[in-house]
Amino acid sequence: MGVEASAWITRFGADVPAHGPVLDVACGGGRHTRWFAARGHPVVAVDRDVSGVADLARAANIEIVEHDLEDGSPWPFAGRAFAAIVVTNYLHRPILADVVAGVADGGWLLYETFAVGNEQYGHPTNPDFLLRAGELLDAVRGELRVVAYEELVVDHPRPAAIQHVAAVRDDGPR
Ligand SMILES: C[S@@+](CC[C@H](N)C(=O)[O-])C[C@H]1O[C@@H](n2cnc3c(N)ncnc32)[C@H](O)[C@@H]1O
Repeated sequence: MGVEASAWITRFGADVPAHGPVLDVACGGGRHTRWFAARGHPVVAVDRDVSGVADLARAANIEIVEHDLEDGSPWPFAGRAFAAIVVTNYLHRPILADVVAGVADGGWLLYETFAVGNEQYGHPTNPDFLLRAGELLDAVRGELRVVAYEELVVDHPRPAAIQHVAAVRDDGPR
C-alpha cells in the first residue's frame, strides 16, 4: 500500500470545494485523509481497522470511524453529503450506490482501484475485488458527470491494472 497520495486523487482533489467535508472510504493508513486535512478539509476516515490513522485521533478536523463496511449493516453515512468521497484500492460492490449517493451537489467522487487484468501483476486476483471494464462509469451513470476516466496499466507504485474515475454532481450531462 502506498504512503504517497495517488496522483489521480491529488489532481482532482485540488478542485474539491474549499473546506468541504471529505469522506475517505477504507482509509487504511490515511494517505488521502492526511492530504485533504492538510488542505483544510474536514475529513471522515472510515475503515474496519483504524490502527493506520491512530495518530490522527486528536486532530481537530478529522473524524475516525471504525466500521466494517461489509457486515451487511446500513451505510453509516446515510443522510450525510460530502464535497468529495475518495475510495482507493478498495471495492465492495454492495456499497457502491451509497458511495455515489453521498456526493453532495457540487461534490466529487474520486475512485481508483484494481481492475480485471490485474491478475497477471499480483494481488488482488479475486474478481470480487477487481472492477470490470467500464464498471465505474456504470456506477455513476445518471448520477454524476464524468470529468475523467481511465482503464490502464500503471507502473507506479507497482505494476497494476487499474481503473479510475473523477466525477462531479452538477447540472452537466450525465
Ligand atoms: C489496500 S488498503 C487501501 C487503503 C487506502 N484506501 C489507500 O489506498 O491507501 C484496503 C483497506 O480496506 C480496508 N477494509 C477491508 N475490508 C474492510 C471492511 N469490511 N470494512 C472497512 N474497511 C475494510 C482495510 O482495512 C484496508 O485499510
